[in-house]
Amino acid sequence: MTRQWWSGAAIYELYVQSFADADGDGVGDLAGVRARLPYLAALGVDAIWYSPWYPSPRSDAGYDVADYRSIDPSFGTLGDADALIAEGHRHGIRTIIDIVPNHCSDRHPWFQAALAAPPGSAARARFWFRPGRGPGGDLPPNGWQSIFTGSAWTRTKGPDGAPGEWYLHLFAPEQPDFNWANPQVRAEFEDILRFWFDRGVDGIRIDSAALLTKDPDLPGFGPDDPSPYADRDDVHDIYRAWRAVADSYSGRVLIGEIWLPDATRFARYLRADELHTVFNFPYLCAPWDAAGLRQVIDRTLAFQAAAGAPATWVLSNHDVDRHVSRYGRADTSFGLDRRDHSQPVDLALGTRRARAAALLTMALPGSVYLYQGEELGLWEVEDIPAGLRQDPIWHRTGGADPGRDGSRVPLPWSGQEPPFGFSPPDAVREPWLPQPGAWRDLTVEAQTGDPGSMLELYRDALQIRHAEFVGEGPMTWLPAPGGVLAFDRGGVTCVANLSPAPADLPLHTAVLLASASLAAGQLPPDTAAWLRTPPGA
Ligand code: NOJ
Repeated sequence: MTRQWWSGAAIYELYVQSFADADGDGVGDLAGVRARLPYLAALGVDAIWYSPWYPSPRSDAGYDVADYRSIDPSFGTLGDADALIAEGHRHGIRTIIDIVPNHCSDRHPWFQAALAAPPGSAARARFWFRPGRGPGGDLPPNGWQSIFTGSAWTRTKGPDGAPGEWYLHLFAPEQPDFNWANPQVRAEFEDILRFWFDRGVDGIRIDSAALLTKDPDLPGFGPDDPSPYADRDDVHDIYRAWRAVADSYSGRVLIGEIWLPDATRFARYLRADELHTVFNFPYLCAPWDAAGLRQVIDRTLAFQAAAGAPATWVLSNHDVDRHVSRYGRADTSFGLDRRDHSQPVDLALGTRRARAAALLTMALPGSVYLYQGEELGLWEVEDIPAGLRQDPIWHRTGGADPGRDGSRVPLPWSGQEPPFGFSPPDAVREPWLPQPGAWRDLTVEAQTGDPGSMLELYRDALQIRHAEFVGEGPMTWLPAPGGVLAFDRGGVTCVANLSPAPADLPLHTAVLLASASLAAGQLPPDTAAWLRTPPGA
């Protein structure tokens, strides 16, 4: 395998609206990011993945794109993006952007044209328009359900208000699905890729990557039937075409967002002429349990080796509960379909485990994704008032699913009270989601220089990782007692104690970094350490 920049990279997911607000409107923006690039460079990240930065009505936080070749005016301009990409490169930071190919915004000109055009028109053929079933076409064309709950179909109205055809949306009604069997859709996205690669973008994160193609018959299906829209064979043609575009440049990476429960099934996408890497969600979803984590790690490494693709490791992102909270609950696992905020959270325990998990994760061979704010030890904000919630999941489930707002709260940078430096002192609006007052102890300012802080742990870990670990290998498991994971990374031993009892440290000549104080040669519970392996061991 040729070593590429992404094979061992530390990639920082930057959720633009919650990172830093330079113009005081309560929403993060590109000027805010630009001012904080030195922070990210000092943190030690190799690349930034930006959540969607395009013009969008934000019915789904920007994953409803109205124009794929521009920047949302509240974030800045295309010129700002160009400057950010260039300045990132000067700091040694590459840029990955988020492309959303399964659906666009209902404000996208193509969808507006489709609504204005008659049934059977070329404009409608770029989407999935169908007549309804039953008398008057009052029933949706099939029983498919939206991933955000409710029917996956919404009925259109003609200019006179008369009900018309229905259109498909696997997510919110404001996110109509493209018809990827349509050649114009394919050509359009290949052109969008080139547009951004030409501007210097180094990689693409592909949203909902396994959902793009649909069985044209749009059949109903039962729990044991193959899905007519997920993980289908014909999606691979699209990835081959995208890979050809990426490979016509140098050093550009395609990263798939694919929620499959089992790591081995990713191999279908990681072919030499398809995606370069995929997110490792089975690792993220795994509970804080040594045997279970070891199994996911082994499976990941085995299938990655077979696919010739570097492994990826991720603990949090903008769709999941922050892992400080997950690890502080009785059930430390995660599933998109069972966000459970009714469980009590022990934040001290969750934080302790999150520190250990950071060292475990950053020692694994491959690339690592950090979600903004995890370096500060932020927790899931579970008490956002209903009236301030934004997530369509919360709204469409009537609050039964708490949704994702709690992981998207604007970052605390400095000061003693909200907006904690997220917005400037003369801001005209409050942050778009409210920040907990207790985050005064977690600001970048409060943590900088504090050797016991999460931020300093991340800074040290990223620096040591850079200096000591070779991207994708080698890694050797070492003998360890039950509940303890220990492996060697070519001279550095990583050991993590997930058991409730202290464990003896493996042989070592020095302690490089530890997530908590080590007592008398022992590793306390919920603690991890990086040790210098003795020569010849
Ligand atoms: C996955 C994204 O990560 C999520 O935030 C979004 O809601 C869906 N795809 C739909 O675009």
